[in-house]
Amino acid sequence: MDAVTAAQKSVPAELPKGVLALTVTDVTHYTDRLFHFTTTRPASFRFRSGEFVMIGLPGGEKPVYRAYSIASPNWADDLEFFSIKVPDGPLTSRLQHVKPGDTIYMREKSTGTLVHDALLPGKRLYMFSTGTGIAPFASLIRDPETYAKFDQVILTHTCREVAELKYGLDLVASIRADEMLNELFDTSKLLHYTSTTRETYAFSGRITDLITSGKLFADLGLPPLNPAEDRGMICGSMDMLKDIKALLEAAGLNEGANNKPGEFVIERAFVG
Ligand code: A2P
Repeated sequence: MDAVTAAQKSVPAELPKGVLALTVTDVTHYTDRLFHFTTTRPASFRFRSGEFVMIGLPGGEKPVYRAYSIASPNWADDLEFFSIKVPDGPLTSRLQHVKPGDTIYMREKSTGTLVHDALLPGKRLYMFSTGTGIAPFASLIRDPETYAKFDQVILTHTCREVAELKYGLDLVASIRADEMLNELFDTSKLLHYTSTTRETYAFSGRITDLITSGKLFADLGLPPLNPAEDRGMICGSMDMLKDIKALLEAAGLNEGANNKPGEFVIERAFVG
């Protein structure tokens, strides 16, 4: 029996209501804390780039669901997710062991605030991420709408260690080398700024410190934050969201939402 057939056998004949079954097609482990997986995309499933869904696993008495940003763009045939591994996490202790052919459950409704509709028009879009918080931006930096709306798109990604940056570095390199994407949008509009906090690397320090000191802007050759031109999206831990939100507000930017677009939006990265 091949892997796909084996996994399909483990799916109950009747799926829970409102749940779609995804088949894992690829898994990449970056470190002992981070991994990425790709799944099939059900034909009926639609979402906006930057949104999240609830993910769970079959088996167990009551499936545990956790919020996951979809890392793939809305036009892609596959779905991609970037996940942390928590040894005793209710979901990730099992999820980190998935293999191609395994089944994952996904609630069919996607939602989220890291979407274009929640931002007012602007010149530059900053996407601030730490750790797995890069996931929604992995989706948005492959969406032509992002480049239709902004002259420059600046993705910042800060992790503890260099190996944790690899997913984003490989992704941006693949975007720049992709013929189809180069036809769809100007990939040179995308700037990628990476830094580490616990290992030596070309750029070091928390993104909050790099904003406060002005080093981020000096390194990129960009002006300081300006509410007339700059927009922001933030995804990371609760503390990171709070600290960057305070810095953006101090620069005069106001938080937006789906029903009230503003100058920046925030979303917590998956945690457990
Ligand atoms: P640090 O190493 O100084 O804690 P984590 O893996 O714990 O989610 O952290 C991801 C990255 O986010 C780390 O580089 C971490 O830096 C950084 N970080 C943690 N808290 C904050 C914060 N309040 N503001 C900015 N960056 C933060």
